[in-house]
Amino acid sequence: MGAPKENGRVRELIPRQDIERRVTEIAAEIDRDYAESGAESGPATAGTEPLICVGVLKGSVFFLVDLLKQIKRPVAVDFLQTSSYGAGTSPGEVRLRKDLDLPIRGRDVLLVEDIVDTGHTLQTVLALLQLRGARSVRLCALLDKWEARQVPVRIDYCGFRIANEFVVGYGLDFAERFRNLPYVGVWEPSE
Ligand code: PRP
Repeated sequence: MGAPKENGRVRELIPRQDIERRVTEIAAEIDRDYAESGAESGPATAGTEPLICVGVLKGSVFFLVDLLKQIKRPVAVDFLQTSSYGAGTSPGEVRLRKDLDLPIRGRDVLLVEDIVDTGHTLQTVLALLQLRGARSVRLCALLDKWEARQVPVRIDYCGFRIANEFVVGYGLDFAERFRNLPYVGVWEPSE
């Protein structure tokens, strides 16, 4: 989807309560899965190896914070940032703007994203994390705009599948606006 027109309004698509309910469900699923896969789980205690949760700046931050507050197993938090489709880049080319601070070799990594759209960003980032020698890498995305996919991406934990519309709110922006909306909405340009 191209950049939307400047004037318009936001139509609510996924209400705050639906997001909260889904975040709680996904957190429980993550706790259950990592306990079953042999990774240490349970309440935060010294000596247990944290699951490294990586947010892709900036859009994932709102989802990441809400999700992690509901995960009971120990976690470590890190961030990376990519840029794409900018001046001097070809379509689908993704560049790393901010790298991880933590080493991830031999560790379980959970990548947390607000949305998977064409898939280029996540395909690149997932490959990078594998290359760094992570023991496992899973992807958790709040939104799956599946009709827009150009390259395949496996989403292990998905909040909602949505249509190919320009969405804002709960971390997602239109020219940096609307990230702090507590719900996800569709940007509807004026006629
Ligand atoms: C969005 C989103 C993903 C990426 C998905 O980030 O957070 O990182 O686009 O798109 P793709 O599947 O087509 O690669 P964006 O580059 O808009 O940055 P932001 O999170 O800072 O808004």
